[in-house]
Amino acid sequence: MAKVSQIALFSLAICLSSVLDSVSAAQVKFIVEGKVYCDTCRVEFETRISEPLKGALVNLECRNRTNGTVTTITKDVLTDDAGAYKIEVEGDHAEEICEVSLVKSPRDDCRDPTEAWRKSRVVMTSKDGIEGIQRFANNLGFKKREPLSECTEVLKEMGYYELQGEEGHSYIP
Ligand SMILES: *[C@@H]1O[C@H](CO)[C@@H](O)[C@H](O)[C@H]1NC(C)=O
Ligand SMILES: *[C@@H]1O[C@H](CO)[C@@H](O)[C@H](O)[C@H]1NC(C)=O
Repeated sequence: MAKVSQIALFSLAICLSSVLDSVSAAQVKFIVEGKVYCDTCRVEFETRISEPLKGALVNLECRNRTNGTVTTITKDVLTDDAGAYKIEVEGDHAEEICEVSLVKSPRDDCRDPTEAWRKSRVVMTSKDGIEGIQRFANNLGFKKREPLSECTEVLKEMGYYELQGEEGHSYIP
């Protein structure tokens, strides 16, 4: 009898400790914040006439650094009036590569994919010395189909000048 209850106690202890382990692992949580723009000048960076995109969809994906397997993928999240989003992610992802990606644009006239503004890398671990659970992603954006006419002026202000070559418009700092 004594033996049986010892075994019972022992397995209870194992049980409890694994419950506690999973509780503490689940408690690690990060909030990733960022903004999505309509790139109205098709330059893939923010200008004063970039427009926040309300209702864009983004998600966050983490992949194993070594073999590329997707380990986490969040639900799609909508941006608010200011083009801002918050994505909640569980767990520490020190050994993974995590990125926020654009999923869908709400605007027909502004949904061309961009190279530089398509994804943003986010480091999600407390092991790198960054305090707190908040993490910030770089801006993301879709390109407007036709650039606004003010773009030339705006980019000139920013110190860019326009090259009008055979491949269309491009801007050089
Ligand atoms: C990533 O994949 C490698 C190789 O398969 C494996 O050894 C490692 O444990 C994985 N890392 C994580 C965090 O799952
Ligand atoms: C890659 O890593 C994941 C865990 O991150 C693991 O489940 C999977 O088996 C690994 N694949 C290979 C081919 O090693």
